[in-house]
Amino acid sequence: MSRKALSAFLMLCFLVGFFSVADARETIKLGVVTKPGSAQNICAEKFKELLESRSDKYEVKIYHSASLGTETEILQQIQLGTVQMGIITSGPFDVFLPEARVIDYPFLFSSYEEVDRVLDGEPGRLLLKRLERVGFKGLSFSENGFRHLTNNKRPVHSVDDVKGLKIRVMESVLHKELWRLLGANPTPMGWPIYTELQQGTIDAQENPLWVIWTYKLYEVQKYLTLTHHVYSAHIDIANLKWFNGLPPEDQKLIEECMIEAAHYQRRWNRQNEATFLKNLKEAGMIVDEHPDLESFRARVKGIRELDIFRAKEVQELLPLFLR
Ligand code: PAF
Repeated sequence: MSRKALSAFLMLCFLVGFFSVADARETIKLGVVTKPGSAQNICAEKFKELLESRSDKYEVKIYHSASLGTETEILQQIQLGTVQMGIITSGPFDVFLPEARVIDYPFLFSSYEEVDRVLDGEPGRLLLKRLERVGFKGLSFSENGFRHLTNNKRPVHSVDDVKGLKIRVMESVLHKELWRLLGANPTPMGWPIYTELQQGTIDAQENPLWVIWTYKLYEVQKYLTLTHHVYSAHIDIANLKWFNGLPPEDQKLIEECMIEAAHYQRRWNRQNEATFLKNLKEAGMIVDEHPDLESFRARVKGIRELDIFRAKEVQELLPLFLR
C-alpha cells in the first residue's frame, strides 16, 4: 500500500471510530405495561423526546405492551436494575412499599386541583422519597385517573348491586381489600385482561375512562358506573443505584425531563376525558353517571381500621394525604 493510501486508510479508521464513539449513547430501558398512544406511553414518549433532544448521552428504549411482563414484574426488574426506568400504576406499589397505598385511598380526592396540590406538594414529595427505601428513585407523578366500574352482569347504581361480582383488581393489597369490603369477589391480575372479560372468567373490572376506551372494553362490558372510587396515579421511577451513579447534571436533567413529561401527560389525560366518555356511550355502553356514591362511601368508611393501614409507615403518611 502506498504511503498516501495508508494515511487515507488510517484517517478513515479514525473518523469511523470517532463518530461511533460520539454516537454511542447509553440505552435506558423504560418499561410500561400499556400500548403506544395510551396514557402511560404518552408520558414515556414525551420523556424520550425531551431527554434525547437535550442530551446526546442517552437513548430511551420504551418496552411497552407488557413485553416485560406485568407491572409487578417490571417493578421487580427495576429493583434488580435490569430495567432502569418505569412508569407504573400506583396500585401495585403497595406490595413493595405499604405506605404507597395512601394515594389509592378510596374517595381521597374529589378534583384534579386537589390531586395536583397533594401530589405536587409535601405529601407527594415525601412519598417519592420513601420509595428509596425499596430501591426506587421516585421522579414524578403522571396520571392514570379516576377509576370507574364496568361489568357485564347488571347495571350498578348502589353498592348493593356490586354484591358477588367477580372483579379483576390490580396486584395490590389495598385494591383487593377495598373490593372485598364493597361486596365483590376480587381476583388480582396483571394487565391486560380483555380475554378474561371476553371469556367470562371475570364479570367486572375498574379503570379510568382512557383505559376502557383504548382497550375496547366496551366490546366485552355492557355497564359503566362512574364511581370515581379511587384516584390512580402513575409513578415515574428509576432504579436508585443506577440513578445515583449518574453525574449530578444528568440526574437533574433526567428528573426535569420526567417532571415535564408527566405534566404534559396529565394535561393530555384531562383534555381527552370527556371525549372518552362520549365515545363509550356511542359505542353502546349503558352509563350510570350519577350512582349512589354515598352508599359506596358508607361501605368503605371502616377501611382505615383494617390491618393494611395499621403499619407505622402507613400511619405516618396517611394523615398528610387525608388532610
Ligand atoms: O388496571 C390497571 O392495571 C391499570 O390501571 C392500567 C390499565 C395498567 C393503567 O395504568
